[in-house]
Amino acid sequence: MAENAAALYHKQTKYHPATIGQGHSIDWQNPPSQFKEYAGAERIDLRPFLPTTENENWQAEAVLRDPNGPFALPVLSRILFATNGVTAIAVGGEQQMFFRAAPSAGALYPTDLYVLVRDHADIPDGVYYFHVRDHALIEVYPKGLGPGGDQMFERLARACFNDPVVAQASVAVVATAVYWRSAWRYGERAYRRCLLDTGHVLGNFDVIAPRMGVGLTAIGGFVDDEVAELLAIPFEKEGILGVFPLYDLAKFSDIKAGPSARSCGDDDGRVEKDAILTVHNAGAIRRGQIAEAGNVGSEPFLVNPKYEFAEGVKLKPATDVSDQIEIAILRRRSTRQLTGRALTVAELSDVLAFSYRPDLKQGPEFLPRYFDTGLLETFVVVNNVEGLAAGVYYFAPGFMELLKVRTGDVRRETYHLCLGQELARDAAAVIIHTADLEAATKRYGSRSYRYLHLDAGHIGERMNVAAIKLGLGVSGIGGFFDDEVNELLAIPERELCVYITCLGKAAE
Ligand SMILES: Cc1cc2nc3c(=O)[nH]c(=O)nc-3n(C[C@H](O)[C@H](O)[C@H](O)COP(=O)(O)O)c2cc1C
Repeated sequence: MAENAAALYHKQTKYHPATIGQGHSIDWQNPPSQFKEYAGAERIDLRPFLPTTENENWQAEAVLRDPNGPFALPVLSRILFATNGVTAIAVGGEQQMFFRAAPSAGALYPTDLYVLVRDHADIPDGVYYFHVRDHALIEVYPKGLGPGGDQMFERLARACFNDPVVAQASVAVVATAVYWRSAWRYGERAYRRCLLDTGHVLGNFDVIAPRMGVGLTAIGGFVDDEVAELLAIPFEKEGILGVFPLYDLAKFSDIKAGPSARSCGDDDGRVEKDAILTVHNAGAIRRGQIAEAGNVGSEPFLVNPKYEFAEGVKLKPATDVSDQIEIAILRRRSTRQLTGRALTVAELSDVLAFSYRPDLKQGPEFLPRYFDTGLLETFVVVNNVEGLAAGVYYFAPGFMELLKVRTGDVRRETYHLCLGQELARDAAAVIIHTADLEAATKRYGSRSYRYLHLDAGHIGERMNVAAIKLGLGVSGIGGFFDDEVNELLAIPERELCVYITCLGKAAE
């Protein structure tokens, strides 16, 4: 069988010790712009609705019970800020660098958010671009005038296979990635980072929205060009990655969410002008290409039978990190230096529990909305965790158990495979997400590549905020020697490394 586009792209964009650094040169004179400007467009300033200090209660009664409804401006402003807003500014000479609530590989921020609105007390019906630096909604076009005409939501619902939540929504968020922002630095491998970065943004969104009384569902199966047309964005430069209709969380029990993931069917073998477009378009769903109702359904985290009977260590979470987690989002930064000092098993357990087994005390409406975590597997490399032998473990989320793959100090291998980044050497634990790409593409075609990386980024963000809440150090790692990860974990080639997160004690 010919290799599908996802497998080919993955192979093509592997890092190898002998060839890394070849093939792509960075045009330092022409860095990409991180924002889109819509000159002269109407804008809604969201800044006046932000709390001015961290101590102000984000979930104040007055905000949550706004007479203008669950999506009133103070609520939307806070949700968008905690999802992707500017939480730090670095100044160097005349330059300003904006750092955001969500991390991004190389701080290049390919992810953009759009908001569709109808019947809102303060926002005229229309399609809006969330301008991160200005913290404003910029009108892309008002109802009736742009490609959505008078039927924006009807068209969005149709593009999402008549998803019932979209059909009823009055606010919907769409996440996209502008490839060039990341490709400028990372070349063809940037698509992986675009997806992972967007997963991190979704991680914040998914945490903050329900805490502000707003529910969301995640839709990964939509007709790509129909949604791109609705947003008036160029299909060859910017990919739609997810559609997220909002609803009043008080109505949670009435919500019948449609499927979060759909297949795109078989590849048509089309080759586009670059590798990113080829893999993204191979994963696109086209009108009429697949049966409207078929090929759907996702699974919870599964356990690979290969490890089922391995010797295990039960993890016991000690702290519920979800209380006031929004403060951790606002304070989050990627740790630049770890110390090598030990984590406790409880700290590791708390981080993993928040990411994989959120406390049901808060109710099912607070469970993360992943696309299909049944496709992902998790390994934990233990460098220095009190009470755990150093080595490689397989993590079984359903049982909160670490199953032993092999013991022994593998710090040197881990350091090397993370491109010699000291973070990996000095981490107490290195969490590695993998997936069986063949199984994933059987289920969803090349579109699975999106779900795998978006979900891994989403889990990565939950690990980030949990770590920050516990006072730990954390950083994502998007650059690694792919084949060496397989060697370390003793997994076959068809299984691939999706993402790595380093966890440990931060240097002062
Ligand atoms: C997908 C992804 C990959 C990343 N890869 C690395 C990496 O390989 N090495 C590293 O030091 N930081 C990495 N980072 C962290 C970014 O450098 C960091 O998010 C960015 O500089 C913005 O800073 P902040 O996270 O403190 O806001 C990664 C982050 C993401 C989301």
